[in-house]
Amino acid sequence: MSHLIAPSILAADFANLQRDIEMINQSEADWFHIDVMDGVFVPNISFGMPVISAIKKHATKKMDVHLMIVNPDKFIVDFKKVGADLLTVHYEACPHLHRTIQAIRAEEMQAGVSLNPHTPVSVLEDVIQDLDLVLIMSVNPGFGGQSFIENTYKKVIQLRDLINKSGSKAVIEIDGGVNNINCPKLVAAGADVLVAGSFVFKSENPIETIKELKGF
Ligand code: DX5
Ligand code: ZN
Repeated sequence: MSHLIAPSILAADFANLQRDIEMINQSEADWFHIDVMDGVFVPNISFGMPVISAIKKHATKKMDVHLMIVNPDKFIVDFKKVGADLLTVHYEACPHLHRTIQAIRAEEMQAGVSLNPHTPVSVLEDVIQDLDLVLIMSVNPGFGGQSFIENTYKKVIQLRDLINKSGSKAVIEIDGGVNNINCPKLVAAGADVLVAGSFVFKSENPIETIKELKGF
């Protein structure tokens, strides 16, 4: 498949959220990337259920919800209710990761697991078969607008190898500092989905920027 682009709503103008959602609807973007931060797992708070419900009302594309929270199991049913299609939890926040993945699937959502920059790909060996997506963080989670960590390329190659060997159908998503320089290199390394926040929303013409990222 050709790669997908998932603009991160975290970088949108929250006072003009409907306008920015319509922009993504009209663009060549594939998914909405929605970052939930709790101020505990990461040193920042973003938004929760009411805002996700409001996004869902207007969004015409897949809702890719990235949970940067402790105890995600507590809220799996609620995230389904507000419209998540794909729910990604952090490996570092889930002591019973296998159970968490099954609980997401039981709610008929796709299941993803995210790895912080310091977490090796090999920790997923025994769950890779059960995953629809692996999200490799290419910055430390918590904030938009940070610089891309170059070690990410190596992890993409390792993860592609693990997926091929295991026969898993998981797609590889990259999140943090994605721009027009690293996007083509990430795609060449084996990435399937690129999240882009600041690079899209801070650009002069977000529709054209999405088209550029999609074109690599
Ligand atoms: C960071 C979030 C990212 C963030 C990406 O913790 O998970 O999705 O919004 O933003 P940029 O593209 O600006 O790094
Ligand atoms: Zn994210």
